[in-house]
Amino acid sequence: MKGIVLAGGKATRLRPLTKITSKQLLPVYNKPMIYYPLETLIKAGIKDILIIIAPDYSGHFLNLLGSGREFGAKFSYEIQEEPRGLADAFIIGENFIGSDNVTLILGDNIFDMDFSQAIGGFKKGGLVFAKKVADPERYGVVEFDKSRNVVSIEEKPSKPKSNYAVPGLYVYDNRVIDIAKKLKPSPRGEIEITDVNNAYLKMGELRVEVIDGIWEDAGTFESLLRASNLMAEKEGKKMGSKL
Ligand code: G1P
Repeated sequence: MKGIVLAGGKATRLRPLTKITSKQLLPVYNKPMIYYPLETLIKAGIKDILIIIAPDYSGHFLNLLGSGREFGAKFSYEIQEEPRGLADAFIIGENFIGSDNVTLILGDNIFDMDFSQAIGGFKKGGLVFAKKVADPERYGVVEFDKSRNVVSIEEKPSKPKSNYAVPGLYVYDNRVIDIAKKLKPSPRGEIEITDVNNAYLKMGELRVEVIDGIWEDAGTFESLLRASNLMAEKEGKKMGSKL
């Protein structure tokens, strides 16, 4: 199993914080944001990791993370020239993935969960997760039938069919490279990970596991602050407690 952290994009929603640096280098409590997805992969047993970054500030990622030795892992780097969508990670990462399976994690997704069983037991098809949230319209949304079978996955629907969002951690077999290459851009001009999931769903090979731990997509001011507070609480150092 190979791992990819996608840390591209321009993060215009976080301006001016991202005017002179990358979103994934911003602090989340006591670490740069990208440490969290890297540690999620490493904790799950994935040690061979490709980090995909935008051209701006790419040198900062190298300075910060280096070869991966300090993390007990091996890091490789690729540049994503334009934010073409999450599924582009599998096209950029084709050589890196080779003939292996691959787990993609988004560089702004903060989990406090252990995925080693789910990923360690993965064999074939696609595996994604679903977490109950209050604001599903921000995410890919899973619709289940009465027996918890997946009926549909929709990207940022204005009328979500459930409260179950798909977090930014995706596990696929090697066919994902070909699936990504065949995708057509969505109305927002991106090749969508939701379309990858729907391709596996159509083949009857998508598994969705409901999860219930800490998860934040730290891409907005509110969720960035929430992620910092959650991590501070976790370490028993409630923010503000010393003020
Ligand atoms: C992306 C995906 C969405 C997913 C979310 C998780 O959204 O398109 O399906 O639920 O990540 O963080 P984006 O970050 O592009 O808004």
